[in-house]
Amino acid sequence: MRSTISFILDGKIVDLDFKNSKQFSPTSTALNYLRSFPAHKGVKEGCAEGDCGACTVVLAELVDNKITFRAVDSCLIFLPMIHGKQLITVENLKTPEGILHPVQQSMVDLYGSQCGFCTPGIIMTMFAFYKNYDKPSREQIDDALTGNLCRCTGYRPIVEAAAKSCVHNCVDHFTNDESKIIKFLKSISKESIHIQTDNQKYFRPASLGEAISLKHQHPEAIIISGATDIALRVTKNHELLKEIIDLSGVEELKVITQTDSSIEIGAGVSLNDILLPIEKDFPALHEMLKIFGSHQIRNLATLGGNLGSASPIGDTLPILMAYNAGVVLESLNGRRVIPLNDYIIGYRKTVRKPDELITSIIIPKLTNGSIIKSYKVSKRKDLDISTLSACFRIDLDGSMVKSIILAYGGMAERTKRAFTAEQFLLGKQWERKIIEKAMTLIEKDFTPISDARGSAEFRLKAAQNLLLKFLIETKGTN
Ligand SMILES: Cc1cc2nc3c(=O)[nH]c(=O)nc-3n(C[C@H](O)[C@H](O)[C@H](O)COP(=O)(O)OP(=O)(O)OC[C@H]3O[C@@H](n4cnc5c(N)ncnc54)[C@H](O)[C@@H]3O)c2cc1C
Ligand code: FES
Ligand code: FES
Repeated sequence: MRSTISFILDGKIVDLDFKNSKQFSPTSTALNYLRSFPAHKGVKEGCAEGDCGACTVVLAELVDNKITFRAVDSCLIFLPMIHGKQLITVENLKTPEGILHPVQQSMVDLYGSQCGFCTPGIIMTMFAFYKNYDKPSREQIDDALTGNLCRCTGYRPIVEAAAKSCVHNCVDHFTNDESKIIKFLKSISKESIHIQTDNQKYFRPASLGEAISLKHQHPEAIIISGATDIALRVTKNHELLKEIIDLSGVEELKVITQTDSSIEIGAGVSLNDILLPIEKDFPALHEMLKIFGSHQIRNLATLGGNLGSASPIGDTLPILMAYNAGVVLESLNGRRVIPLNDYIIGYRKTVRKPDELITSIIIPKLTNGSIIKSYKVSKRKDLDISTLSACFRIDLDGSMVKSIILAYGGMAERTKRAFTAEQFLLGKQWERKIIEKAMTLIEKDFTPISDARGSAEFRLKAAQNLLLKFLIETKGTN
């Protein structure tokens, strides 16, 4: 067990001992850490809540002995989360002789920067993109850039710069250091970390068994997986989080297992890592995850965290409900699987006991003939919070409704099904006149609230119209 963290910065291993640090606590963000050095002021703070991407850095880590590169928002990362990784900033991309990286050179050549505030963040997003894509499509470029806001240049030159650099016809000097970095990454111990300072305890267990024991000993401790929800308590509310159990080092939670009938997704798998395995069999979840937050958010955020927050506007919850998913909870007392329908019992309240961890989510594959669709209504498509969301699933016998699930988010204090409308539709014809009646029944199931994102009236109307949209999209497909 160790009480310090180690990571790579500027090509060297850095050891950080929080006990002896007056400047940094275990919940200091990577952003604030970097900005404390004159040589790393390129990373910017815009929003401190994951929305603007000005703070984007790249984390490199070893996966199956290969270095992977991921763009993340450094304002959402507590320092112990970078243990065992390489932290790459915009200052690291050019060579000591001043030769720019191809992504930087393309931005210069194509005039992709005006005031320059957003530019270092955009460069880092482009750098990770460059490392992961060859000759990307316009759609892939747009998707990669959704987490970076630029308010003066305009996106055309930025998109062109990304396209130009990702043709990979210039020398990438950054690869020069790779063998040294791999050696360094391998040399950092993966053992668990227990940090205790005067007013904080931060545990980063290295195994699931240890995580479960820690939660048993510290039931009040705050769990974090990707910290994309929890970090805001520090950056926006300025809370002191006294006890934290950080699951980001538990490899057992990052496993995906597929069988003929289901997929089991570890609670700690990042949402970006889920996208490919679910693409074929779980289209409704795939559609939603494609527009969940941004690349930077999806590189950190997890299903475990979305279920842990149990927010009424958590985007995956109506979908997991419609797929009849089960949440796997584990403690020293054993393992139980709770159907999504029974998991959430009130506003951000679930049946999870204080000593339990969410360890995985089991999602059954659709049975033959089932149709499922998900919808998100928000002010804009990307990187936005849902005003409401929905996932509908239907099994038809000819044109008669054999079974139906109408799950909604943003319509009540928790994710909820429209049971009255569901009951009405059972055994009825799947046709417009019946749906129009069912739409009026949605009112019996929900009394939505008005807030900055939409009025109660709008929410109700949109919820009703989504049902009609579902009919239009499904009629004739079965
Ligand atoms: C800019 C931005 C955009 C976002 N966009 C979306 C969006 O489009 N849709 C959406 O639904 N959400 C969105 N979110 C919210 C957030 O990203 C999601 O809720 C995400 O799934 C949280 O995952 P995490 O691993 O980061 O959770 P964390 O912040 O680590 O944890 C969230 C909660 O879950 C608990 N928890 C985490 N893991 C476990 C576990 N294994 N067992 C028990 N409890 C656990 C934590 O204690 C905490 O209460 C966004 C957030 C930001 C900052
Ligand atoms: S400062 Fe805006 S995303 Fe981090
Ligand atoms: S160049 Fe000014 S905000 Fe993007």
